[in-house]
Amino acid sequence: MRQATVCIDQSALQYNLNRVKQLAPNAKIVSMVKANAYGHGIKDCLAALNSSDAFGVACLQEALEIRALGYEQPITLIEGIFSADEMQTVLAEKLECVVHQPQQVNWLLAHQEQYTALGLKVWIKLNSGMNRLGFKASEIIAVINTLKAAGFICVLTMHFANADADHPLNEQQIAQFIDIKQSCAPILASCCNSAAIYRWPELHFDYVRPGIMLYGATPFADRTVKDLDLQPVMTLSAEVIALNHIQKGEKVGYGSTYTALQNMDLAIVSIGYGDGYPRAYVKQNYVVIQGKMLPVVGRVAMDMVAIDVTGLNVALGTPVELWGKQRLVDDVADANGTIGYELLCRLSQRPHRTAK
Ligand SMILES: Cc1ncc(COP(=O)(O)O)c(C=O)c1O
Repeated sequence: MRQATVCIDQSALQYNLNRVKQLAPNAKIVSMVKANAYGHGIKDCLAALNSSDAFGVACLQEALEIRALGYEQPITLIEGIFSADEMQTVLAEKLECVVHQPQQVNWLLAHQEQYTALGLKVWIKLNSGMNRLGFKASEIIAVINTLKAAGFICVLTMHFANADADHPLNEQQIAQFIDIKQSCAPILASCCNSAAIYRWPELHFDYVRPGIMLYGATPFADRTVKDLDLQPVMTLSAEVIALNHIQKGEKVGYGSTYTALQNMDLAIVSIGYGDGYPRAYVKQNYVVIQGKMLPVVGRVAMDMVAIDVTGLNVALGTPVELWGKQRLVDDVADANGTIGYELLCRLSQRPHRTAK
């Protein structure tokens, strides 16, 4: 059988969740499991994240998957609902809505009695400068006052545009958030994603919303998972399916972009962009075979990739780590001009999935 395998380490996931608990001991944890738990597979991840206080997803379908698996924790729809008819499912499945548009506020007000009777909170999103979702500072107080007056339990929320970096917008976002929080006191509050959990303990407030750190990848360009004391959760692996000895001057792969500078041994490995392994690159990429970091040579194809194994005793069937505990997904992403988040989320359905 072709080997291209995603293995989820549930104890690593639990370890990382415990790191959040250590870093934010007084906040409730909304584990972000949107996009199929950042590509890791919702079922296996929920089993390890069961001690989370709540889950965060991007749409109703994702919330329904969690309920169908039997989890009863609160679920926050981080973009709220997309049409009025979704309100029925919100109530039936006890889901908490973000509101970032006046029409979403109206949909909630129309179901005020049922929603508040279920004890569901409403998350009111501040647009403090990211300019993606949310009410502007000049609008939000009126929205909060309306919802409070109607008996809703409100959570003031926002998202950082640059929690991973030093940027002047951070101070503006923080100042606006604290200002609105004070103006609307008492109100629950939540603004920290993974990077912000590390950077601003004073902003943990009532709920933190870790995503990437749970999966053992870094939100920062300049801090590794080792620096952050996190454990990579996903291992993407494959196997050597062919071995070639080539002469100096011979070419490798599509476009014949790689020319052997010496006689060399190549291992052909059963992984490609059809599995979600990235083809574009900006730096030399590597895989791990027998504990050694070995270079990818030539273009990544749909189903295969070639590795320089010159001088090593590699056999057919030898396992290859594309990313995992030795070759970090963050480093593969860096070599391919992207971020770990993207590589994890965009794996295809083709790799075989396991958990341990
Ligand atoms: C609203 C919101 N909160 C929290 C997160 C988690 O962010 P991270 O994965 O950087 O921790 C996200 C992710 O995109 C988000 O959109």
